[in-house]
Formats: sequence, structure tokens, C-alpha cells
Amino acid sequence: MWKVPLFDIRLDQAAINAVQQVMRSGWLTMGDVTKNFESLFAEFLDIKNAIAVSNGTAALHLANMALGIRDGDEVICPSLTFVAGANSIIYVGAQPVFADIAGYDQLNISPEDIKAKITGRTKAVQVVHYAGHPCDMGPIKKIADENRLYIIEDCAHAPGAEYNGKLCGTIGDVGCFSFFTNKNMTTAEGGMVVTNNDQLANTVRLMRSHGMTALTMDRYRGQTLSYDVVELGFNYRMDEMRAALGVAQLNNLNDVNNKRYRFTQLYKDRLSHISGVTIPFRDSGSASACHIFPVILDENINREQFIAYLKHRGIQTSIHYPPAHLFDFYKRTFGFEEGILPLTEAVARREVTLPLYPSMGDDSVQYVCDAIEDYYGKGEKYR
Ligand SMILES: Cc1ncc(COP(=O)(O)O)c(C=O)c1O
Repeated sequence: MWKVPLFDIRLDQAAINAVQQVMRSGWLTMGDVTKNFESLFAEFLDIKNAIAVSNGTAALHLANMALGIRDGDEVICPSLTFVAGANSIIYVGAQPVFADIAGYDQLNISPEDIKAKITGRTKAVQVVHYAGHPCDMGPIKKIADENRLYIIEDCAHAPGAEYNGKLCGTIGDVGCFSFFTNKNMTTAEGGMVVTNNDQLANTVRLMRSHGMTALTMDRYRGQTLSYDVVELGFNYRMDEMRAALGVAQLNNLNDVNNKRYRFTQLYKDRLSHISGVTIPFRDSGSASACHIFPVILDENINREQFIAYLKHRGIQTSIHYPPAHLFDFYKRTFGFEEGILPLTEAVARREVTLPLYPSMGDDSVQYVCDAIEDYYGKGEKYR
């Protein structure tokens, strides 16, 4: 239907074979393949613990819970992100306190605004490496250390991204990944919690599976007959098919990220000549995971018409994101109002996400850039 979709997924034969092998093996639920995926992911990040879970939202929920965040606490987070982050704070009874982004060039959470939002109830900062570009973790870590706050890194966009030589997910107290289908690496639905804190990891492992002291696999192997339930946990387990797909995707991650980087550079080269669009994170290099390619339209450009023109040329676009604090539920529950996060709100009104996926090829990037050039030049009737 689309000439250039927003994203596309192509599984190679190795990935398909790996999943089929699990399906033929007779063991489908969390077991050795998941353990192997966890070990490889931990090795990749050079971190002590990686715990596979059913999705990125579950990873965030467990991270908040394992850090002991609870009712009465506040967690500072961005609003310009997927709502899962703020939701996960509410799941444990705490209150999300939104901080603004750093600027039009830096759509990540502002360290200064984090500082301004700290109260006696603040327990943690939940950062999101938006579009795969690492947050300014140096100042954020300093603020967190000075105020004894935990840092949760939402790395849904950022597997393989680096900040000062450290991989995202290993800088704060705990990192959370999503392997949803449009992510840089996917298990269809899936996620991972990573941490160097063994105690935290044990809590996450326990809570992932109903707070049970033994897994189905342990009983199958005759290692234990019964089990105890020591906490009120959840079923946030991953399964073996997804883990097999995860291993195959992890093997390709560097290659895939390099391709995303290449197309991002090509977009930047072409679009920097067009006045009317601002490219955020212009100077960020290969340390980004280049998950999506956002642009900010000038104030006088009608975004709906811009999107409609690209659609007319067969190009699918998206918006990242409608700000969380202005969703009906958030306004109703917490009394948030328009105007509290000026930069987030301005960007949210003017942002458009262009297609980016590893199999798109230079020609598709050129096609999108040609269409944008035409819009600003010949596309008068759409303006
Ligand atoms: C920034 C961000 N955080 C969290 C999530 C939640 O991940 P999942 O969809 O795997 O629950 C997503 C993904 O969709 C995301 O983009």
C-alpha cells in the first residue's frame, strides 16, 4: 500500500529457523533458550544481570517495583515519550512528575528541569533515550547522586546506543528494553530488565513469575516438587520462541544499527538544505541507535497538510509523541494542564517522524527527501 512505509521488518532465514527449532523441540515456555538470550544480552551490554520479560512496559513496571517505589513517591520523567513510562510509575502507586525536554535540537529530558522538579517525595528519575539518542547522562547522574535518586533508563529506542563509551542501560541503576515489533531488535512482543545490582535482579526475577520460588522448568527437571509464593508477583515471562528470535536479532543488531545510522546521515545531508524543517540531534553521531527519524516543522507549516502530502506520495509518517501529560486520563487524574511543559508541547505540535528501517535503501530515503523538497517548492496547493 505504501511506497515507503514508516517501518518494515524482514526476518532472515536464521531467525525463522531458530523459532522453528524451538517449535519442534517440545518446550515452548521460558527455559534454556530464554536463559541463553539473557546471557548473550548481558554479555552484549557488559552487565551482570539481564532478565527477559513479556514486554517493555512490564520491564518498566518491575524496575519501579524492585527499586521500592510506591504510593506517596514521585518519579520525574519526560512527557514526550510513549505513555508506558508514566503508566509504569502509576502502577506502583507513585506519581509521575513530568520534566520538559532540553530544546528543539535535544528532545531528551532536560537536566535543569529535572533539578527544578525535585521535591522531598522524589525517589527516582526515569529517562528515555528518545529516538535512540542518549540523554545527557553526566549531569543527570550528578543530580541523581546529589539528591539520592535512582535512575531508570528506558532504552526502548536505544539498544546499542552509547554515552561516553558506556552502553545505554548500564549507566543508571536499572535499564529497561522493549523488543516490540518496530524496535531496533524485536521479539514481536518482549522486553528486558538489566542491572548490575544482584539484589534488584533477584527481585525482578521473582516478580516476573508470580513471586514463585521455582519455575515450571525446575519442576520438569525434578529439581523441586513444590514451591512457595513469597511476594505478590505477575506473569511477565518471555517464551522460548521469542527468546530464539531475540538471539537472532541480537546477532544482527550492530549491522542493523549501522544501516539506520547510514540512512539517518543521508536524511540529514539532504534535509539540512531545506528551510522549513529542523533536524533535532543534528550533531549526534554513530553512538546513537537511530531508532526513528524525527523532524520539526517550522511554526507556519500546517502539519496535517504536510503529512497528507507525503501520504499522497505514498509515504507513511507518524508523530512521536502526543505528550503524555495532556492525555485525558492524565489531565483528569492529576490535573495537568496545557502550558506546564512549553517545549514538549511546542515540539509535540510540530514533530513528524519520517520512515526509517534497515531494509529501506538509499533510494527510499532519496524518494522521501524529494517529496519534502517538492512540498516546500512545488507542492503549493497542499500548503
Ligand atoms: C519509549 C518507550 N518506552 C516503553 C515502551 C513500551 O514497550 P512495550 O511496547 O514493549 O511494552 C515503548 C514501546 O513501545 C517505547 O517506545
